[in-house]
Amino acid sequence: DINNVILNNALLVIEKNLEKFFVAKNKITKEEAENILNRINVYVDRNKALDGVQMVIEAISENMVIKQHLFSELDEICEKKIILASNTSSLSITKIAQKSINQDRIVGMHFFNPAPVMKLIELIRGQYTSDETMDISKKFSESLNKTVVSITDSPGFVSSRLIYVLCNEAINMQREGIASTKDIDSICKLAFNFPMGPLELSDLVGNDVYLNIGEYLTKEFGDKYKPSQLLKDMVSEESLGRKTKKGFYEY
Ligand code: CAA
Repeated sequence: DINNVILNNALLVIEKNLEKFFVAKNKITKEEAENILNRINVYVDRNKALDGVQMVIEAISENMVIKQHLFSELDEICEKKIILASNTSSLSITKIAQKSINQDRIVGMHFFNPAPVMKLIELIRGQYTSDETMDISKKFSESLNKTVVSITDSPGFVSSRLIYVLCNEAINMQREGIASTKDIDSICKLAFNFPMGPLELSDLVGNDVYLNIGEYLTKEFGDKYKPSQLLKDMVSEESLGRKTKKGFYEY
């Protein structure tokens, strides 16, 4: 990541989550949690971070230009056999790879929030991704106990294109005063057996993430995907959801 404050905070979150979801529930011992933490190294220096790695999974901000730049740098630094994956939630893998020479080793590996619990990895084949890259990425994902579903590159993939439409429509309805935040969420949970309603989900994923997805889908596919004005207002007020402790709910 770009600075040590973010990195140290990330380590604290991982430590807290290991305690809350694993040690306290007797799924692992305190010692195992410490061993897990000790296996994680954090760096701001890109060359140090990449030294000796077998695979890279990028999770930087959702900006095409910044990602293209990073991937062309990774392509220069990393040996050809190293797979370069992006955890983007919507940006085209083919376009992310456009400025790199070895586009065959670039793939989309989309994790879901909360990543330790969610079973799926949506594996995205860009226009030039090789069979070998797909194969190794699938095996790696399965070694994390995830279920892999492979798809062809398209903006928003399958997951984000679908979930964005649902969440954006829920936000539109909340703005129109058809039902309260809590009632919209309750209806989805009870009517469709969703574990979370679309508005609490938007808070979990980040309202800024959904706004990014909506703006990108609008650019690629047209006004059908236009983000709700309320979503835009919330993002400009820093009501991003759980990460700023304020969104459709207070935290
Ligand atoms: N880390 C590790 N484990 C966690 C966890 C976390 N952050 N959060 C919950 N868990 C575990 C709990 O320990 C619990 O485990 P056990 O059953 O073994 O005790 C289990 O998950 C269920 O948790 P809870 O009982 O506390 O609560 P819940 O039943 O409501 O589940 C949830 C919580 C898993 C988050 C559930 O509400 C859920 O599945 N929500 C929907 C999440 C979703 O749709 N994610 C996709 C978002 S889209 C996305 O991420 C893609 C993108 O790019 C935009």
